[in-house]
Amino acid sequence: MSTILRYLTCGESHGQGLLVILEGIPSGLKLERDYINRDLMRRQTGYGRGERMQIERDRVRIISGLRWGKTLGSPISLFIPNLDWKNWQKLMSPEGSRKKDTADIPLFTRPRPGHADLVGGIKYNFLDLRNVLERASARETAARVAAGAVCRRLLEEFGISIFSRVIQIGGEKDESSWKDVLDNYERIENSPLRCMDEIVEKKMIELINKAKQRGDTLGGIFEVIALGLPPGLGSYVQWDLKLDARLAFGIMSIQAIIGVEIGMGFKGALHFGSEVQDEIAYDKERGFYRLSNRCGGIEGGMSTGEPLVIRAAMKPISTLAKPLRSVDILSKKQVKAAKERADVCAVPAASVIGEAVVAIEIARAMREKFGGDSLEEMRRNYLSYMKYVRER
Ligand SMILES: Cc1cc2nc3c(=O)[nH]c(=O)nc-3n(C[C@H](O)[C@H](O)[C@H](O)COP(=O)(O)O)c2cc1C
Repeated sequence: MSTILRYLTCGESHGQGLLVILEGIPSGLKLERDYINRDLMRRQTGYGRGERMQIERDRVRIISGLRWGKTLGSPISLFIPNLDWKNWQKLMSPEGSRKKDTADIPLFTRPRPGHADLVGGIKYNFLDLRNVLERASARETAARVAAGAVCRRLLEEFGISIFSRVIQIGGEKDESSWKDVLDNYERIENSPLRCMDEIVEKKMIELINKAKQRGDTLGGIFEVIALGLPPGLGSYVQWDLKLDARLAFGIMSIQAIIGVEIGMGFKGALHFGSEVQDEIAYDKERGFYRLSNRCGGIEGGMSTGEPLVIRAAMKPISTLAKPLRSVDILSKKQVKAAKERADVCAVPAASVIGEAVVAIEIARAMREKFGGDSLEEMRRNYLSYMKYVRER
């Protein structure tokens, strides 16, 4: 996979904060802290979230890579402090020793089914599974959303915009089409579940309430839509250059995501070819275009220029208020799994994280295709390619 744009996240869930280093953004891009904060805030909302999100008010600190509001082309590092850190300074201290500071606090030894706890503890040789869960936690995604916001800002310069919505919570499904998302986006942004259909949303809320009462959790499906992609991002020539594969990798790497589909996705497998492929047309104004967009904007591992439509399934949250059976890793006795403060449902947050991941992958493909060290140079290359595409 190309490294022209790359990033690394660091940080534990209850550590001092989350850090992301993003390299490969060209110089000269205007960027404001509040632009990143807006997406961080969107990630924190949603009906069904737990107490932790009431403690945190994520705000980014820009550590490097910017001067006077513009990128320098150097690595951008962003820090999001954990407000909860003040309550965890001893337990999560990078220095000192357990015996002295926290001997009275029991180790985390009852792994939660569905989490990284058990295998992570075996793999890294930990008896305190907190060492695992602190990093496996989806708190990490705050850093990815911050990096995604920077990429989104870059994409804006090229007329690319990214949206998301929730289409299913448990068995409650919003059947409306992605084509109506733009016209209803204000409603989606203001909905506690990022759901377009008000009636379905009410049913989803009832279902979340029911799950909470039962000490249970829920998952669901979200959809990300990206508009304005030029044709030809990604490539068919090598497996790891394919845009659909790269998007799926990014989305699957989000905690709790268990499936990804593009366009008709799994439904496409149930139909005849004539009902799945997108016929080609030509118009002097538009150039080549498609009479439908069932493929979700990608053919042969490349963007077609039509809207990108990608959906992801999220499994129900692993930490249950009424815990499942587990085994204590020290005593080897059958016990109930540990409880942590947890969300009942976090699909709306996952959809915002999905936007960020898609923004990063599209930005990477744009950087590959159009290169340039400065935004001006990248834009020149882009405009020249788009002229060529139009005149072909
Ligand atoms: C936005 C978001 C919030 C989450 N909140 C919780 C939570 O509160 N408690 C929990 O146990 N898991 C939560 N998860 C899921 C776990 O992070 C995830 O299941 C775990 O890290 C194991 O990874 P895997 O499910 O990808 O295998 C959340 C995931 C996302 C995307």
